[in-house]
Amino acid sequence: MASSWVRGSWPPPHILYGGDYNPEQWPPEVWREDVKLMTEAGVNLATVGVFSWSWLEPAPGEFDFGWLREVLDLLHSSGIDVALATPTASPPPWLSASHPEVLPVTAAGVRFSHGSRQHFCVHSPVYRRHALRIVDRLARELGDHPAVRLWHLHNEYACHVPACYCDVSAAAFRDWLRHRYGTPDALNEAWGAAFWSQRYRDFAEVLPPRVTPTHPNPAQQLDYQRFMNDSYLAEFTDERDLVRAVTPGLPVTTNFMGFFKPLDYFQWAAAEDLCCTDNYPDPADPASPMLTAMHYDLIRSVKKGTPWTVMEQTTLRVNWRPVNAAKPPGEMRKGSYQALARDAVGLLFFQWRAARAGAEKFHSALLPHSGTAAPAWAEVTGLGAELQTLPELNASRVASAAAIAFSWPNWWALELGSKPSAEIQMLSQLRWMYRPLWEAAATADFVRPDEDLSGYPLLLVPSLYLLTEAEATCISSYVRSGGTAVLSFWTGIVNESEQVYLGGYGGPLRELFGGAVLDVAPLQPGETVELAWADGRRSSATHWQDIIEPGAGQVLARYASGPWAGRPAVLEHRYGDGRVIYLGTRLDQAAMRDLIAPLLGGQPPVPSGVERVLRTAGPVTYEFLLNHTGTPVPVPTAPGGTDLLTGTEAGEHLNLPPAGVAIIRREPAS
Ligand code: GLA
Repeated sequence: MASSWVRGSWPPPHILYGGDYNPEQWPPEVWREDVKLMTEAGVNLATVGVFSWSWLEPAPGEFDFGWLREVLDLLHSSGIDVALATPTASPPPWLSASHPEVLPVTAAGVRFSHGSRQHFCVHSPVYRRHALRIVDRLARELGDHPAVRLWHLHNEYACHVPACYCDVSAAAFRDWLRHRYGTPDALNEAWGAAFWSQRYRDFAEVLPPRVTPTHPNPAQQLDYQRFMNDSYLAEFTDERDLVRAVTPGLPVTTNFMGFFKPLDYFQWAAAEDLCCTDNYPDPADPASPMLTAMHYDLIRSVKKGTPWTVMEQTTLRVNWRPVNAAKPPGEMRKGSYQALARDAVGLLFFQWRAARAGAEKFHSALLPHSGTAAPAWAEVTGLGAELQTLPELNASRVASAAAIAFSWPNWWALELGSKPSAEIQMLSQLRWMYRPLWEAAATADFVRPDEDLSGYPLLLVPSLYLLTEAEATCISSYVRSGGTAVLSFWTGIVNESEQVYLGGYGGPLRELFGGAVLDVAPLQPGETVELAWADGRRSSATHWQDIIEPGAGQVLARYASGPWAGRPAVLEHRYGDGRVIYLGTRLDQAAMRDLIAPLLGGQPPVPSGVERVLRTAGPVTYEFLLNHTGTPVPVPTAPGGTDLLTGTEAGEHLNLPPAGVAIIRREPAS
């Protein structure tokens, strides 16, 4: 049975279904059973080789690709395609035993040992040489195998070791700084080195931000985050260039981790052919459906227009939380449709067969320890069969109602130490602004603040603390030419070097606010302040108070309690052809809903706990409806159209059972 996915193309003609497959953990007779059961489950893609280095190169320079070729042959004979992984996320013990300097070092100077994974310093020339050699050999041996459709480079770059602080890294950092700044004086200027006598005579004196007696230099820390991102990206692009040279046209990817702070996925997405992500929502957290939606919106956004894939999720449980709640029946299926609703074309899992040894043996898999008798198996085969009926979805795309400005350098800078409040954290600020969109069933794209924003009816800007001139220009011109932007407090505070814009907070964006932010007064955790709205409503706010001098903007709400009572808290300002709503404090959920919903242009309401997303393909629309509650929910829908999952005609109401999903396909009446 041949695969219908043409080698070298993306997206595939069907929905990808499968997961990580680690045949080296099992004897060959199990491989045959694996392939038989994969076929039974509707699996059409297996990711192999992720952690196979010590099996592919059992001793330095001695290679063994025979076993993996046999596995690929087996998969291919059953029409199962392969994402071939480079094994560089876990070097064999022989490498670090003979070259201990490849092991990474913490900021406190502790050198890690081998014995788990990711035990390498990305700057080590020894590691890089060995990594590129195994990648090159793998590509030459198996890259042209007829089963292979994708390159999966490495695994979750930077996941356990976001930064290395060893001497080799220190030298690489100095080179990076020389390239960025040219002279020690320019470095001193950018880092504000006049503070605490930190002035450098020579780049040779500069260190990574290792453990110091008290607060390290924040600009040095920020540059270290940029440097580490660049270093991992360089390792990725080195591997990418090697495999592209051997197998031109074969799409290259790696697995992202959603909102993963160490790596700037906007940059990474530009370096690969498609995006993949790993998502492990906590079934015990009621916010998980919203957080998953936000995660998937990000992955769709970092490579706009290119369909993406869930590279890893779990059928039931992970193994790495203190208590690993199991997904209730139906949850795995519903969570999978959450991804499809937001433009995914693949649903892959960690992993195919539950391991019997090692640290992840109690992580669930497509094929559980108890085999096909386990309840998860029925869900796995059920979903596999269902997905085979939905290939048309791959041609449709989400239409977004809003944009959320987001940048990794801002995230890094926002969370550096010594701030007015450590409570202002990026993900918390994002969730605060995302929730009213989620509740109104409005899909949002995450945008770089310096990209063209003109197509979006609404722009949300949560705490864009680090703001470049280019970003400010983009946001201002978006508003000037008619856009509506909601900007939150702690926006426009520092430049790229983490130096404060003087003359009133907001820097190059301050003229948009409609008032002058003269100072800030953080609230204690749990403390609230009352707000009185111009229309008579009252609400509460937390976290923060800007101390605002009124200006050209209209005051929508004022503080009504505490020492700043009477001062403006929320402003609305006409600017050019557009308008800005400036939030000087963190409004409560209800006030945010009341503020944002009218800006969304009449989205039809959804019952609480129901997710609605629209995908379109030309004149055809697909309305995804997902019930995240534990009870049946009647959902009002526009009549007409057919539920792709049941084949029934949509009426005026659709009864969604707990964890229920519907995909209503509508075509304009001819
Ligand atoms: C990550 C890794 C996998 C596995 C899973 C467990 O996503 O990429 O190798 O460790 O976590 O959840």
